Amino acid sequence: MGIRKLIVEGPVSLRGEIKVSGAKNAVLPILAASLLTDGETILHNVPKLRDVETMVQLLRVLGCDVKEDYPVLKIRPIDTSKYEAPYEIVRTMRGSFCVLGALLGRRRKARVSLPGGCVIGVRPVDLHLKGLAALGAGIEIEAGYVIAEANRLRGSSIYLGGMFGSSVLATANVMMAAVLARGETIIENAACEPEIYDLAKFLKKMGADIEGAGTPWIRINGVKTLHGCEHRIIPDRIEAGTFIIGAAMTRGDVVVKNAVPDHLGAVLDVLRRSGVGIKVYKDDNIIRICQRRGLVAQNIATLPYPGFPTDLQAQFMAMMTISRGTSVITERIYPDRFMHVPELNRMGANIKREGPYAVVQGVKELKGAPVMASDLRASAALVLAGLAAEGRTDISRIYHLERGYEALEEKLSSLGAKIWQEIEE
Ligand code: EPU
Repeated sequence: MGIRKLIVEGPVSLRGEIKVSGAKNAVLPILAASLLTDGETILHNVPKLRDVETMVQLLRVLGCDVKEDYPVLKIRPIDTSKYEAPYEIVRTMRGSFCVLGALLGRRRKARVSLPGGCVIGVRPVDLHLKGLAALGAGIEIEAGYVIAEANRLRGSSIYLGGMFGSSVLATANVMMAAVLARGETIIENAACEPEIYDLAKFLKKMGADIEGAGTPWIRINGVKTLHGCEHRIIPDRIEAGTFIIGAAMTRGDVVVKNAVPDHLGAVLDVLRRSGVGIKVYKDDNIIRICQRRGLVAQNIATLPYPGFPTDLQAQFMAMMTISRGTSVITERIYPDRFMHVPELNRMGANIKREGPYAVVQGVKELKGAPVMASDLRASAALVLAGLAAEGRTDISRIYHLERGYEALEEKLSSLGAKIWQEIEE
């Protein structure tokens, strides 16, 4: 089969109902955490995504029996002698680095490839290693692999903040190692993301003793063993945000179901200030977007949760390109996460980048153009821009989208989008 590209024909007005899938960034660490027990883990609401399939592949390499019946996954570790996460897998998905804490916690030994570079910029792992070393692990780096060992980890007080604030997966790694350590661990400046809260909820169901997840201080009392459990993955707040922004940009009327309003506070606040018509039905996890007016420019800065998420920066920028006025978008988590800027400019946007800032001067309309997807969220931004633009947008390298959006074409088509795949010539 040739290389596929995605075609979007605009402009359209998105209309109808959509259901958000389970959260990619919640399910990945939870899958890693299934290594902490010998029992069976049953997960519900698991999205069928390439990143999830990659993690499943890694769990199999690590001796697990995994039954895939999406949205349900059943995992049972069978051969616990395995402890190596190979380069071929980890290099394709950074999220897989979070098997390190679980392997160390349960199997006392881990050999995990360093994830290496990434298109969204430098992504170090120093905080992960600092946290695990504080729990007493011996850590060496050899030939591109992290080798970590510990007879029994012991609890400790760990400050996990870095230059750019807290780290989501470092918090996950340290939590997973600490639940089976001897004594008490305190993580200070822990990531507060809902995905960390969901991981803690899952670990508690396995028998872990954790308090404070979802706040910057997490206290963990180590236990001897953990058992299997059943868990439902939280909805994907980034997918929800992507549909919400898409509805606003296309002057649509969309009911977004399975969206947790509390996980989207910063996003809904800035969208309201941009003039987006939003109705929240909190008890039912429904957000309805009904857009009749034009949009107004707003400044944002990405921040760790509960701030505006970096994973929605590109999509928000696409919206700002057709909003009235000038907006300044500051990227505080990944200062180089701006690959979408030249692509949006190809579609007629007026964006200037200066270091971690992008200055967006709103234009009247975007025009379809051939563009290239670079990473998952940049690709989503290009799809949204294509829906709002006049004419045909050809997006190449669509495999990025398949890493993190379940059935995106089907979902958008059901809202009236003209979107399909073609083979590149
Ligand atoms: N950082 C360090 N040292 C570390 C780890 C991180 O300096 O050891 C820095 C990073 O370079 C960055 C900041 O800390 O500047 C925050 O990065 P974080 O560690 O929180 O990112 P992550 O845990 O590797 C997860 C998501 C990303 C999301 C970020 C930020 C998963 C699988 N990935 O990555 O998701 O952008 O948190 O919210 O959960 C995506 O879904 O498209 C995606 C990239």
